[in-house]
Amino acid sequence: MRILGIESSCDETGVALVDASGSATPRLLGHALHSQIEMHQAYGGVVPELASRDHIRRVLPLTDTVLAQAGLPLSAVDAIAYTRGPGLAGALLVGSGVACALGFALGKPVIGVHHLEGHLLSPFLSADPPEFPFVALLVSGGHSQLMRVDGVGRYELLGETIDDAAGEAFDKSAKLLGLPYPGGPALSRLALQGDPQAYKFPRPLLHSGDLDFSFAGLKTAVLTQVKRLAHASPEGPATLHLADPLNAQQKADVAASVQAAIVDVLVRKSMAAIRQTGLMRLVVAGGVGANVLLREQLGTACAKAGVRVHYPELHLCTDNGAMIALAGGMRVQAGLADDGPVGYPFDVKPRWPLSELGGAIAA
Ligand code: KG4
Ligand code: ZN
Repeated sequence: MRILGIESSCDETGVALVDASGSATPRLLGHALHSQIEMHQAYGGVVPELASRDHIRRVLPLTDTVLAQAGLPLSAVDAIAYTRGPGLAGALLVGSGVACALGFALGKPVIGVHHLEGHLLSPFLSADPPEFPFVALLVSGGHSQLMRVDGVGRYELLGETIDDAAGEAFDKSAKLLGLPYPGGPALSRLALQGDPQAYKFPRPLLHSGDLDFSFAGLKTAVLTQVKRLAHASPEGPATLHLADPLNAQQKADVAASVQAAIVDVLVRKSMAAIRQTGLMRLVVAGGVGANVLLREQLGTACAKAGVRVHYPELHLCTDNGAMIALAGGMRVQAGLADDGPVGYPFDVKPRWPLSELGGAIAA
């Protein structure tokens, strides 16, 4: 059973092929990715219409690349998985349209995959795959959630952000510092030169007693701090960009202090989820899972608590087709993939809570 996976929910076009024969974890036969980051950088964020058009340009050449990597013809594909949601409607429609067209042409089923399920299961493609059950910390540009995962499709929401996602907090803080989009990687690079204790940023909901997050206040605190520093600088407040009057060390100190606040909250809430569930395994997935400080601090906290922590391969932390092909494959193996929509409708769900996923346990 070979499953082609297509990811097109945001600003990355990803295509991959997995072998999901038998009950072993699906094996990656090939994968290719095109990132639109450079194209969107000029606008400081993702422009949905440009994203959709670029997905159209990239998806078939990437599919050819993947099949060439696997040394297989298109006819060797047994099912096509695509990201059905959540994401940008136009961008999702490209993946859905291509998946349905290929499915119709080949007479093969299509499987609509939940993007977050893809992230959640992505560590199964790593050299050190987890075993069920585990706690998952899912931290991306649009989501921050803690989940109890008992098996494929068996997800219980333990806590989530009540406003901004962790990736959004990185991105918005980076923007305030004048860093290029996407802010997370740029901010964490700058933070290497800074003092994480230079500024005391809030750790919202740290003692709320539940597993929810809140990151919107952090952005305001960073804005206030940057303004204060700009006004105090010999150059005075900037006209072009708020952070211009700050010197390099001040910018690095703000970056390091913001990162420390975000990571602190994520680590403490993850460990609270571990204590609450009694599970001894933690999976970290989503773009923010690539953050080095988060990995270091979770590593230390988990080692102390005797908890195993699993990550996707670094290049599979951010959006990619491999996780979609994998999730499609694991759904088929678990008997949870429907046989594909009759008539291949272009069926996308731009808003789609993971708790509404078929086979999932609602919180
Ligand atoms: O999972 P992802 O690729 O896309 C979504 O599904 O949203 O996550 C993208 C997010 C962005 O907010 C990006 O800034 C953040 O992940 N990110 C990072 C790092 N790499 C990516 N945040 C912090 N540190 C990183 N190294
Ligand atoms: Zn994602």
